[in-house]
Amino acid sequence: MVIPRVQAAIASAFGEEFRGTDPVIRPSQFADIQINAAMALGKRVGLPPRDAAARIVDDLDLDGICTAVEISGPGFINLTFDGTWIEELLNAQASTSASPAVVPAAGPAAGTTAAAGPAAEPGRVVVDYSSPNVAKEMHVGHLRTTVVGDSLVKVLEALGDTVIRQNHIGDWGTPFGMLIEHWLEIGEDSPEAALLVDDPSAFYQAARAKFDASPTDEDGFAARARLRVVALQGGDEETFAVWQRLVAQSKRYFNAIYSMLGISLTDDHIAGESSYDAHLAQLCEELQARGIARISDGALCTFPAGFTGRDGAPQPLIIRKSDGGYGYGTTDLATIRYRVRELAADRVLYVVGAPQNVHLRMVMATARDASWLPDTVDAVHVQIGNVLGEDGKILKSRSGAPVKLMALLEEAVDRARAVIDASRPELTDEERAVTARQVGIGAVKYADLSVGHDTEYVFDFDRMLALNGNTGPYVQYAAARIRSILRKAGVLEHYTGTGTTAAGAASGAAAPATAIAVVEPAERALALHLLEYGVTLQRVGELLEPHRLCTYLFELAQLFTSFYDQCPVLKAEDSVRESRLALCALVLRRLAGGLELLGIETPENM
Ligand code: ARG
Repeated sequence: MVIPRVQAAIASAFGEEFRGTDPVIRPSQFADIQINAAMALGKRVGLPPRDAAARIVDDLDLDGICTAVEISGPGFINLTFDGTWIEELLNAQASTSASPAVVPAAGPAAGTTAAAGPAAEPGRVVVDYSSPNVAKEMHVGHLRTTVVGDSLVKVLEALGDTVIRQNHIGDWGTPFGMLIEHWLEIGEDSPEAALLVDDPSAFYQAARAKFDASPTDEDGFAARARLRVVALQGGDEETFAVWQRLVAQSKRYFNAIYSMLGISLTDDHIAGESSYDAHLAQLCEELQARGIARISDGALCTFPAGFTGRDGAPQPLIIRKSDGGYGYGTTDLATIRYRVRELAADRVLYVVGAPQNVHLRMVMATARDASWLPDTVDAVHVQIGNVLGEDGKILKSRSGAPVKLMALLEEAVDRARAVIDASRPELTDEERAVTARQVGIGAVKYADLSVGHDTEYVFDFDRMLALNGNTGPYVQYAAARIRSILRKAGVLEHYTGTGTTAAGAASGAAAPATAIAVVEPAERALALHLLEYGVTLQRVGELLEPHRLCTYLFELAQLFTSFYDQCPVLKAEDSVRESRLALCALVLRRLAGGLELLGIETPENM
């Protein structure tokens, strides 16, 4: 509301071509916010910044929104909002049951965000995330794409997009000959076979060791494994059936992890590499016939513009190896074509490890050359940074073996359990178990989400479980504390709909409105931040950056804490008490709703 008006003023003062200018809104020491655009604008139009600021202010219409508009310092424009205006917007939010995500971005956009204009049109978004590999351990990198992907999916859905989840599991390729032979040899019901579900790396290693140790004679294991691949890819029914059973075991493993994490992926979202196999031959022929791919050193390759190797020579994307086999690039081309043609995507997101960036960009470039990915469809690699151990290297267990993800998650829950056992002994065993799971898992997920998704970070239990700082438990604690305040006042049920689950608070169940009065400075700061919720979600959806939602919630929790320190709630008198309880309830709704979009539960007790 403020931003379009500032932009209109800039346009009328300096000309239409300046309308898109970022007003550069920042927090202000002397007012509610300040507009810093005059610095850069002054330079562009050749005016001292203070004069540029004065021209903007002359054309700025903030009647009914601001009580003071002042120029200060070298050319800052300080805005002080009308308290009534703040109260009106806030109470409109408090009394609507509209999904919090579509709350109009009506706020003053105070603080640091500068999002302007209406949200993008809702569309069809395909999101490729998690995508682990059959008969392999999911590593912390997969954990992170799973957690970040699931949060993006939820935010986009809340913003009105139609989201199609795609779990592109690695379920095809040469290792399957070896894996199938090993499986048949040990017996599908043997304890070693159960490793597929409990410790897939161990299963894979056992198959690999057998393969490597096998004599090279004609009926040795390695030879049989090779024949098996040929049978599998040649459509041999019996082999195919064994392969299906093997993949089914791996799905049990993935689903155990998803269920532990509370991830929204199901078997229906699986569209693995194997599902594109039937299209690869035709795809290669077509690209060759259209002159987009050509033979180089016996392999069929594309050479999309702009990709060069170290020697400066054009870099190939191999789509058919010299032995006739297809690879990761080939399936990914078939995949992107399918997503655009069959799934009718407007936007395709790949929430995938950063090291795969060149691969994915080459696939996208080739798909553009082939017109399978038209300009109207956006394809984005949401790069996921590595998760490191304390030594700064890829996270490994003490023995140097890959970390078992399930064990890691269990440790997070155990650690949270120790804390809650000590701090809340009066809760029942069951209550403490529930809270420990919510806090332990929430802490791991929040750690994945709260730093930029493309930034590496060090996996550190102590830091992620800390009750201070930008952590899951800190935000959860603020929400649990508000629950307890509302419970003491006897209005928890009234405000959350159910009084017992996060869902009531998160779904935006609106209570009959008690007007919130914004009087004290701490109330005002909290109110202004609450008004930023809608704009924050829009930014997260636009930029695909869940860490912005974490930052928002962290700040909200901090502002709530100062409000609660400075403004008595339960001990306040009558209408002040009512108003503050209503304010607490709105904060709870935003905290719980925001956490839900991050895939994190809000504990009843903490
Ligand atoms: N399975 C791959 C891996 O574990 C990730 C697949 C990502 N998606 C894709 N369309 N390439 O690294």
